[in-house]
Amino acid sequence: MSTTALPPLPTVPDTDPTRAVLDSFRIAIAQRIAAALPVTLEQAFAAVDYGKKGEDFTVAIPRFRLPGKINEIGEKVIASFTSDEWVEAVVLDKSFLHFRVHTANMIRAVLTQVHDLSHATASGVPEYGANESGKGKRVIIEYSSPNIAKSFHVGHLRSTIIGAFLANLYKACGWEVISMNYLGDWGTQFGMIATGYEKYGSQEELEKDAIKHLFDVYVKVSKDAEADPGVKVEAAQWFKRMEDGDEAALKNWRVWREMSVKKYEQEYERLNVHFDVYTGESKVGKKAMDDALVQLETLGLISDSEGAKLVELDKWKLGKAVVRKRDGTSIYLTRDIGGAIERYEQYKFDKMVYVVSSQQDLHLSQFFKVLELMGFEWAKNLVHVNYGLVQGMSTRKGTVVFLNEIIKEAGNVMHEQMQKNEEKYNAVIDPEETALEIGITGVKIQDMAAKRINNYTFNWDRMKSFEGDTGPYLQYAHVRLASIGRKNPHLLPLPAPRDLDTARLAQYAHAREIAFLLGTYPDVVRVALRTHEPSGVVTFAFRLAHAISSAWDVVIVKGEADLETARAKMFLYESARDVLAAAMRLLSIRPLERM
Ligand code: ARG
Repeated sequence: MSTTALPPLPTVPDTDPTRAVLDSFRIAIAQRIAAALPVTLEQAFAAVDYGKKGEDFTVAIPRFRLPGKINEIGEKVIASFTSDEWVEAVVLDKSFLHFRVHTANMIRAVLTQVHDLSHATASGVPEYGANESGKGKRVIIEYSSPNIAKSFHVGHLRSTIIGAFLANLYKACGWEVISMNYLGDWGTQFGMIATGYEKYGSQEELEKDAIKHLFDVYVKVSKDAEADPGVKVEAAQWFKRMEDGDEAALKNWRVWREMSVKKYEQEYERLNVHFDVYTGESKVGKKAMDDALVQLETLGLISDSEGAKLVELDKWKLGKAVVRKRDGTSIYLTRDIGGAIERYEQYKFDKMVYVVSSQQDLHLSQFFKVLELMGFEWAKNLVHVNYGLVQGMSTRKGTVVFLNEIIKEAGNVMHEQMQKNEEKYNAVIDPEETALEIGITGVKIQDMAAKRINNYTFNWDRMKSFEGDTGPYLQYAHVRLASIGRKNPHLLPLPAPRDLDTARLAQYAHAREIAFLLGTYPDVVRVALRTHEPSGVVTFAFRLAHAISSAWDVVIVKGEADLETARAKMFLYESARDVLAAAMRLLSIRPLERM
């Protein structure tokens, strides 16, 4: 039996039962309301919300703004209600109507859909939870964007984690995604390094770890500059030569950049993070910036301040900002303006998302505003996804400076934790690799658990804990699901869904709860796209993990004597595992098979 065997339903715009089968159940509820009350099917559908725990769907009657007593309106719906294969029951509770969907049919429909969409093999078919809302549209997502020769701080880590999630999310929603890393690879600090490199540079150190070596050189030469103002002058001259395109001045810089990118690529790979394009401040063309300045002058938005040029944004409560320095060299803001223009010319994006700390809110507002004033129609499609500060992310050695230190520490902390349980530890095949993966999961989960804008204090003890809503707990939940197949090989492979008797699951409240939760996942994805918040996906993953963990002692596979029932239970757990893994992958986490 498939869902097509259920009574036919009308269609409602912006729903997609072929990808989110709970849409069908909601339409069936809306149909009843529209039949009993003077509202359209669409109005009724919009009012069908997920209910609180224990209730499937709830409708708040006052939303319809109908004349008459709420109670009487509710009674009308109750009076005309008959149960069918979509909806089992309705109750009126004050101003709310709570609907209960048909248990066996819901379980069957959801599990079948999870199965079919998770195991679709045709190339490029996205997994369960995905949708096509972004079909034909292109988005650039710019994230991570560290500064070469400066430290990689936790702000960059957050941008990396949230950005990777957004790239996955847009892809899951049918968008063509270009993920972009906009390196801080230009600016006076390179004049400083060039100056310092003559004294402190070493080819050997550079090859070993370019990121670290350039940072060290920068720190040393900055010290020199404190004592000797001549160093800064020399550095400024270097950078001016670089800006003027002097090949001799650019030669070393090219090597530094390339080697830093190589090193970063390895570390991103470790984090399961990928970029389609490595660009950077250095790549912004002079012409785009010059043209922009000319245009701003014509618009009367530029004023002069001792030879430097300012853009006047007071009218929009965005202050004044320098767009060109006195010596004619470019600056951060101008590069962002020119960069956006070039990106539009090259990619004709439908949307461009910048994942940058809320400390730069003003900067982003300024350059979005400038682009809008310049009359670029696409400026309205620029989005700043911001986030709060992280406190307390230091390793046992001290303040974090490099990304690889964070990764290493996460692995070490987790490894020590695992060693505490000797028996379990000895059973792990590759404990260090496993510890690293769990550690990274811990860092990511802690970062995405709350609303982006919140500041939070990083806590290694929490990160490594297997208890509570932590990364290790989530990995553990997945591993446990992955293991039941190994423990019950006689049940695998399962027959096709239509040959499974899922009705046997209907007697278990736990099975019902899990199936319904699985059914909500496509909506979790839709909401995340609207809010750009990973926290909803994290919350979903934990709700699912908890529901599964309470089911273990009740919906038992091992020792189930009835083969049909054992298979149906197995199907439930396999489906749960597919969806948990999909949610984890969306969060850029690699689900583990064993630990
Ligand atoms: N490299 C910058 C920093 O570390 C972040 C770049 C953000 N992106 C942008 N287009 N401004 O502060």
